[in-house]
Amino acid sequence: MNSPRPNFFNLNKALESFQEISGQQDLHGLERFANYYHLCYEGSNEISTKLENLDSEFQFKYSHNPIHHMENRMKEVSSLKRKVESKGLPVNIDSIEGNIFDIAGIRVVTNYLNDVYYIEKTLLQQSDVTLIKRKDYIKNPKESGYRSLHLVVSVPVFQSDGVQSAPVEVQIRTEGMDMWASLEHKLRYKTKTDPQLIEKYSPDLKSYASELADIEKHMQEIHQALS
Ligand code: GTP
Ligand code: MG
Repeated sequence: MNSPRPNFFNLNKALESFQEISGQQDLHGLERFANYYHLCYEGSNEISTKLENLDSEFQFKYSHNPIHHMENRMKEVSSLKRKVESKGLPVNIDSIEGNIFDIAGIRVVTNYLNDVYYIEKTLLQQSDVTLIKRKDYIKNPKESGYRSLHLVVSVPVFQSDGVQSAPVEVQIRTEGMDMWASLEHKLRYKTKTDPQLIEKYSPDLKSYASELADIEKHMQEIHQALS
């Protein structure tokens, strides 16, 4: 499994852009933002380690890796601003702490569909992981055809001066769902310059999403029969 930690981010840069987008001059507010942003980063490291351990244990016991790969990202300060504003809230640390739970995000790409729910179950049964929000877009795909299991969890982070809870968004999906989501994302991006593309390709993409789901289901059956 290839599992890079979240991209390196520069706290000073994050602070500077937060100051810019919020107009916040108060040092206390800026410090709270910096601490919260870093707390989310630490939370993401905690969850990544848990996922790596689960994958390694499963490989050790059953000679199968549920996780194909993981991607971690920290939300850019500019998207943070967009998200807070889209919820009709002022851009400040209280809005962020109370409403934005995906500053740290982990995408877990699994080999098979069963692995998605195995990862969810074994992560959530850990006594220090708390489920905050769950959306199962596999059981209930989006109108576009998008499939993925979205969780927001909170995890304790032990810092130098005590323990704090950090929210982390975990998106779990199969390789087929991931391949589909990347292409559909590209279509949406390109549609900004050529609006006709969406009409041209989205019906096909929608049916491919369910064909891919069928294929992955059958491939999993073969995989199980061979195990
Ligand atoms: P908030 O994060 O609180 O806004 O709610 P949410 O997590 O439920 O939002 P949503 O479920 O819409 O998912 C957010 C993320 O999922 C996006 O940033 C994408 O990465 C992914 N996503 C959701 N829907 C689609 C879709 O139709 N196509 C693609 N390619 N990705 C999607
Ligand atoms: Mg989200």
